[in-house]
Amino acid sequence: MPNILIANGVNLDLLGRRPENIYGVGTLEDLEQYILTQLPVVEKAVGSALSLTFFQSNSDAEFLNKLSEGWDGAVLNPGAWTHTSLALADRLEALSLPFVEVHLSQVVKRERFRQRSFSAQYALGRIEGFGFHSYTLGLWALASHLTK
Ligand code: DQA
Repeated sequence: MPNILIANGVNLDLLGRRPENIYGVGTLEDLEQYILTQLPVVEKAVGSALSLTFFQSNSDAEFLNKLSEGWDGAVLNPGAWTHTSLALADRLEALSLPFVEVHLSQVVKRERFRQRSFSAQYALGRIEGFGFHSYTLGLWALASHLTK
């Protein structure tokens, strides 16, 4: 059974208090519950049970170390680290961890400083702009890759 990390980076603990027009009203706990409700759908689609571990940290060291715990794959929303962290990119490259980069908001429509992603070049792909669905779509894509 694929062992999958679903990791949220800096400030995603504040979901529910961030601008509603961009991030919606749901909290991080709501997001994780939503993913769990959709898990049977994804498992049925890919024909395999999946083991999910949720993680969030505002500490870049914790976030980077978490990636090294032997996951089969990951769904990652690094938050602002997406646009700033060469350390994250270097680690993802070195680990060869299959991952999908996800974003709640449609980053491509936002500020210029968000247009660069250091991590996306190492991802299987990137899904953005679908709110909570970005994560389940990302999970589906990742699980399809891992079980093919
Ligand atoms: C985000 C987009 C980032 O630009 C931002 O810094 C976040 C959240 C998203 O999910 O839309 O914190 O990753």
